[in-house]
Amino acid sequence: MEYSYSYRFMLVCSVLVLCFNTRGARCQLSDDFYDYICPDVYTVVQQHVYAAMRTEMRMGASLLRLHFHDCFVNGCDGSILLDGDDGEKFALPNKNSVRGFEVIDAIKEDLENICPEVVSCADIVALAAGYGVLFSGGPYYDVLLGRRDGLVANQSGADNGLPSPFEPIKSIIQKFNDVGLDTTDVVVLSGGHTIGRARCTLFSNRLSTTSSSADPTLDATMAANLQSLCAGGDGNETTVLDITSAYVFDNRYYQNLLNQKGLLSSDQGLFSSDDGIANTKELVETYSANAHKFFWDFGRSMVKMGNISPLTGDDGQIRKNCRVVN
Ligand code: HEM
Ligand SMILES: *[C@@H]1O[C@H](CO)[C@@H](O)[C@H](O)[C@H]1NC(C)=O
Ligand SMILES: *[C@@H]1O[C@H](CO)[C@@H](O)[C@H](O)[C@H]1NC(C)=O
Repeated sequence: MEYSYSYRFMLVCSVLVLCFNTRGARCQLSDDFYDYICPDVYTVVQQHVYAAMRTEMRMGASLLRLHFHDCFVNGCDGSILLDGDDGEKFALPNKNSVRGFEVIDAIKEDLENICPEVVSCADIVALAAGYGVLFSGGPYYDVLLGRRDGLVANQSGADNGLPSPFEPIKSIIQKFNDVGLDTTDVVVLSGGHTIGRARCTLFSNRLSTTSSSADPTLDATMAANLQSLCAGGDGNETTVLDITSAYVFDNRYYQNLLNQKGLLSSDQGLFSSDDGIANTKELVETYSANAHKFFWDFGRSMVKMGNISPLTGDDGQIRKNCRVVN
């Protein structure tokens, strides 16, 4: 009864911009969620992200990826931040790979001092990703807020739901579709690889010294350089995802793909694979030629990704410490 009433109420409300559930809690993300209850949230997150990127420019990229990996598993609910052996942190796509937890912790600590138990960890991650993009030279987009934090981590969900650089574009598109994102979102959000780094173990399958055959869609000079980086190492050596402008958020990532200089096979495949030619190649060409359109669409797709199954209203909680449930 209670449920169906509240459901009908939500349907009616969703026509309006604001939405409240039966107990008066908001049930939809908005760009003014903290305006009265914690207006300093923007300044605090911004200052921490700025300082972290001054120390290490890559942190902007790491925070962007953290948000992506949070959203794809049980929605954007901060579940990736939870500690524990069965946490998402230790899922294959995240282990020894996702970064930025200390930055989130520091932001949370400050926010607990000014507005205790008001700002969710999931929102902190979403905002930090937005500033990571902005301070890398990327687009400003209005980050929608009002998420609440999840109560469980889902390690198998992370193992199964996060895309791998080794799978065909078609199955990457399927994983995006599974969370409500489309083929355009795949191409636009892959543009996140205009910043940040990746480990040899994630692309050495494309090199002839470490695999039986070299990838013909990888530029020969680039392949030679990658080979000397990775040869004899343990797979942990890293290189930049965007060889032409490593830490600058721009559309050169797409221009690289036109020149067979995508790092991961899931990058180059957007342009060069049969799946890519059928589904994504044209979009790569569009974004390689139009930075403005890429920026605009990236912001739009980030908002869409940030809207994956958020917990709102009375669901979930506001964690006091992002690493553990209250
Ligand atoms: C389309 C499917 C995707 C695949 C297969 C993929 C795969 C990867 C891999 C393998 C790495 C390197 C990880 C490591 O070295 O440990 C990486 C890094 C990264 N990814 Fe993706 N990714 C995808 C989509 C995205 C999306 C949607 C975003 C964000 C919008 C994103 C943002 C990043 C960033 C910023 C980095 C660098 C992180 C850092 O330097 O700390 N990726 N990705
Ligand atoms: C974990 O994620 C999967 C989707 O990959 C979902 O079916 C399952 O219900 C989730 N489990 C929990 C405990 O949230
Ligand atoms: C890479 O680094 C991690 C953590 O520093 C370590 O546990 C692992 O053994 C290293 N080597 C490989 C091949 O992953």
